Amino acid sequence: MDISLEVNGTTERLDIDPGVTLLDALRERLGVTGPKKGCDRGQCGACTVHVDGKPVLSCLTLAATVRRPVTTVEGLSTEDVLHPVQQAFVDQDALQCGFCTAGQLMSAAAAVRDGVEDVREFMSGNLCRCSAYPNIVAAVEQTAEQTRQADATV
Ligand code: FES
Ligand code: FES
Repeated sequence: MDISLEVNGTTERLDIDPGVTLLDALRERLGVTGPKKGCDRGQCGACTVHVDGKPVLSCLTLAATVRRPVTTVEGLSTEDVLHPVQQAFVDQDALQCGFCTAGQLMSAAAAVRDGVEDVREFMSGNLCRCSAYPNIVAAVEQTAEQTRQADATV
């Protein structure tokens, strides 16, 4: 079937099998390899992307059902400027091997934007084999604090 997918601001047309997941469409058809295939069954969060701004597991989402804009980690930052949550991951040393990081960043960005209070609970679907959890939480809290300060000065 023919579908069109808006990914990181660019609309792409694809001829795909109806059973193809969004993760496979992104990685194998569009060359968007930021989202990672960890478990391919909804258990690790490595494939997290945003659909219409909301974090979703792209391995459990059929590409043909996606009607809203998709943002991957490649679309999180603008040009050469890191998204604040990306900078916070650097500042807080919130990654080791980096395999989970794209998914962590997408969930973290949503957590900050939505003002989530229980970061651990919100991020509990994003697993990290390297156990960088304390640093990941610190990075989310750093970004949230920066956002609060920026809002206070407006
Ligand atoms: Fe999607 Fe693990 S690859 S949740
Ligand atoms: Fe290695 Fe998270 S940094 S899996």
